[in-house]
Amino acid sequence: MPSFNILVLGGDHIGPEVVGEAVKVLRAAEAHPAVSKKNVSFNLDHDLLGGQSIDAHGIPLTPEVVEKAKKSHAVLFGAVGGPKWGMTGALRPETSVLDLRKALNCWANIRPAKVPSPGVAKCSPVKESVVSGTDFIVLRENCGGVYFGEKKETPDYAHDVWGYHRWEIERIARMAAYLAKKHGGAAGPSKITSIDKANVLAVCRLWRDAVAKVHDAEFPEIPLTNQLSDSLALIMVKNPRSLNGIVLCDNIFGDLFSDEAAAIIGSLGFSPSACLAGIPGEEKTTGMYEPSHGSAPDLAPNKANPIATIQSAAMMLRYSCDLDFVADAIDEAISIALDDKSAGGLEIRTGDIGGSASTTEMGDAVVSALKQVLNKIKD
Ligand code: NAD
Ligand code: IPM
Ligand code: MN
Repeated sequence: MPSFNILVLGGDHIGPEVVGEAVKVLRAAEAHPAVSKKNVSFNLDHDLLGGQSIDAHGIPLTPEVVEKAKKSHAVLFGAVGGPKWGMTGALRPETSVLDLRKALNCWANIRPAKVPSPGVAKCSPVKESVVSGTDFIVLRENCGGVYFGEKKETPDYAHDVWGYHRWEIERIARMAAYLAKKHGGAAGPSKITSIDKANVLAVCRLWRDAVAKVHDAEFPEIPLTNQLSDSLALIMVKNPRSLNGIVLCDNIFGDLFSDEAAAIIGSLGFSPSACLAGIPGEEKTTGMYEPSHGSAPDLAPNKANPIATIQSAAMMLRYSCDLDFVADAIDEAISIALDDKSAGGLEIRTGDIGGSASTTEMGDAVVSALKQVLNKIKD
């Protein structure tokens, strides 16, 4: 009987709200005969992270939460942070995210950028004709680079060292190859666009060299191009479809470009993520699944778009639970919930995409569409 232990960490402000909608969708899937007949069950354990943990325990991430996370199949996480705790003091909610990624060794952060339903391509700030058909993945190195380099902080001078070892770059490049093959499917592997600022930074010259060498030695059949980070910022807005495939980034570039990609596809509320510690199927490790967005204190209560977190839960089913058929059903349900009524959709739109639906109404719409989708499954 496939039973999965999932640690649910809502976090702060909209975090628990969007995670609550994802849990609602998981519970609806689990209760549906198409899933329950396979005896799938989710054992959910809830705990605190970030500001909520500071308030309860005096620290943003407790050793108990780390231990529970390591013993779980997956962590489903919302977002942390907020004005109450500040973001520049010694005790910052945000450190909990980085510390948990590091504790789980989740070195690959997969952030897809795809319009989740044809009906919402028009919600993008970019022209529909430019954004339609955009389908790339920002693959972000997640445990190294300037985020984790040696730091110095004095009142008048500070630095954060941006360093990489060749092996850290090689393993994320291999993940890019894995994703390129998956993304391209039967048509053959999609291309990899590797991002750097090699014309200025030594760390990026190592990045470019390490990616090229592992590519030439291990997956020369996958098209690879290098793109400077500044021009990537331009291309992503002007011609996002031209990036279709894998956009391979180090930690800081991946942070920035995943938010830019989210804006292009219409909202941060459409940008899910999976943080993995190995190539799926090769190693059994705990994955961490979270929307790319933050705790958006301006949107609590009940105004945030929960789709990115529901999509993250679908990624969890895919990568940590081998339940691709349920993940596919959730993705289809999301498309129906968002699509125009004239196209057979429910046309539910939260404020970020020009509507006035609440967080819970969006979650309810996905649940109702999911039932329709799962009802069609025979066998
Ligand atoms: P943010 O991602 O919270 O918000 C940026 C903008 O996007 C805001 O206008 C917000 O309203 C909008 N937005 C975000 N999520 C949305 C959603 N689900 N639906 C609709 N609109 C959405 O970033 P910020 O305002 O820079 O940061 C707020 C707090 O979140 C800070 O404390 C920051 O450090 C923290 N943060 C946490 C994480 C995380 O926990 N993973 C990620 C990013 C930021
Ligand atoms: C993200 C966030 C985090 C990051 C912060 C909250 C530490 O912005 O997940 O993109 O920079 O990785
Ligand atoms: Mn970010």
